[in-house]
Amino acid sequence: MDVNIQKVGVIGAGQMGNGIAHVSALAGYDVLLSDVSLDRCQAALATINGNMTRQVAKGNISEEDRKAALDRIKPTEKLEDLADVDIAIESAVENETVKRSIYAKLCPHLKPEAILGTNTSSISITRLAASTDRPERFIGVHFMNPVPVMELVELVRGIATEDETFDHCRKYVESVGKTVAVAEDFPAFMVNRILLPMINEAIYTLYEGVGSVEAIDTAMRLGANHPMGPLQLADFIGLDTCLSIMQVLYEGLADSKYRPCPLLVKYVEAGWLGRKTQRGFYDYRGEEPVPTR
Ligand SMILES: NC(=O)c1ccc[n+]([C@@H]2O[C@H](COP(=O)([O-])OP(=O)(O)OC[C@H]3O[C@@H](n4cnc5c(N)ncnc54)[C@H](O)[C@@H]3O)[C@@H](O)[C@H]2O)c1
Repeated sequence: MDVNIQKVGVIGAGQMGNGIAHVSALAGYDVLLSDVSLDRCQAALATINGNMTRQVAKGNISEEDRKAALDRIKPTEKLEDLADVDIAIESAVENETVKRSIYAKLCPHLKPEAILGTNTSSISITRLAASTDRPERFIGVHFMNPVPVMELVELVRGIATEDETFDHCRKYVESVGKTVAVAEDFPAFMVNRILLPMINEAIYTLYEGVGSVEAIDTAMRLGANHPMGPLQLADFIGLDTCLSIMQVLYEGLADSKYRPCPLLVKYVEAGWLGRKTQRGFYDYRGEEPVPTR
């Protein structure tokens, strides 16, 4: 079954979903952006508008591009509105039960030839695919954060993913200006398999009192030439997402070296999830971020 990708559905209008909608609309695709409530979709549209306005100010896109792209994004809280999309990219929270329940509700409405992609950072594509009616047309499309800025997308085939699905996805990803890296379907794929244990180790370094938040971030910025410290990066990714990925690595690879740091668990239990909740390893409520430890 062939499909010509013109209309893109995005499920989950959080920091990643709004970025996927942003780059897709700028590349000329019609986009349906869905979340559990219209309020969340409207908040995402406001974020997209703010981010595009910054791109206009920097001279990266024109004012006409911004207006046209925003007009192409339609918000919806109803999954049935995704009936005519050519590819649906699920970017809801990193929770397998939530993702499966979205597919169960969404698939009966999708066209038979529509591709279903997931932006999961770590969950098995093969297992998620098996819960749908279209494992051949299911694929991991792993964008990086922030989507409008980061160039890489990991494409991950499940065991049943057809070459045609992969080829259409590669074309779509390249058309939104990104570069593909192909990863096999193992826990957390490539980028997060390497990145998250480093972040988790930085949290252990804090937990064991080896250094303060500021000292650890400064050490890695100036000592390893990282553009931002690992704790700042964790806040940026979202501490709940970081914890979910570590749990997937720990359970999926059955190796104690991936055990999530108890301090990470504590921050998540407190609801201090990083930038998105204004507090994580830094407190973002004032003018400047202030370390919380
Ligand atoms: N944060 C990152 O750096 C990053 C990078 C790459 C991939 N990802 C992956 O992208 C996905 C989304 O992460 P995020 O950082 O955007 O999270 P987020 O918390 O910012 O957004 C998640 C969104 O999903 C919505 N949602 C929850 N249940 C839903 C449902 N049943 N139907 C529709 N929407 C629902 C929430 O309302 C929220 O708006 C996750 O799978 C995550 O692992 C995250």
